[in-house]
Amino acid sequence: MQALPLQNATQNLHSDLILDWHLAPALATSQDMSEFDFLSGIDAVPPTPILIAPQPVLREVTRDVRPEDIAFIREQLPGMFSAMYKAPGIGLAAPQVGLGMRFALVDVAEEDAPREPMLLINPEIISDSDQLAAREEGCLSLPNQYAEVVRPESIRVRYRNLAGETIERDASGLLATCIQHEMDHLDGILFVDHLSTLKRNMIMRRLAKEQKLGRR
Ligand code: NI
Repeated sequence: MQALPLQNATQNLHSDLILDWHLAPALATSQDMSEFDFLSGIDAVPPTPILIAPQPVLREVTRDVRPEDIAFIREQLPGMFSAMYKAPGIGLAAPQVGLGMRFALVDVAEEDAPREPMLLINPEIISDSDQLAAREEGCLSLPNQYAEVVRPESIRVRYRNLAGETIERDASGLLATCIQHEMDHLDGILFVDHLSTLKRNMIMRRLAKEQKLGRR
């Protein structure tokens, strides 16, 4: 998701560490920050190119990540985080860099605040609120296009981290929006799909025009 002019979301990441996909506990509530050691030198890492709509890969449904994919994903992360932070963005899903796997990055920390990276592998929304919220969204694959999207205000999401640990956490506000936006990408869905056909077509035409002019 592309960073917006206004952001207000805070959340806490806890620390914990588990070893193996198969030995993972059924439930944990943490993210191991040591997974993101590479972030200290992230500014020097070349950003992975981000695909721009209407690239067909963005419309494909991804497959689940398997334990044997983890080494590969680990290699992709520095370039992906670099791309997300440079954009600047607050979320980036695997299909946006041409990978058909179910994982996404999220960091909704404000620009001046310490980073709060999350990696969601095989994420599932296990519950969501009846209460809906309308929030302005943008997307790194539709640069500079924004529109208000209505989604559940809060969610509970379950996912794996690199250690194979299962994590469940509650999210609301911007974080909930961002996670839902990134999870949509894993099913080939873009935020404009939540809008009227008229509005979607307008945005896609404007994007195509701007891309043709070489703007970003
Ligand atoms: Ni997006």
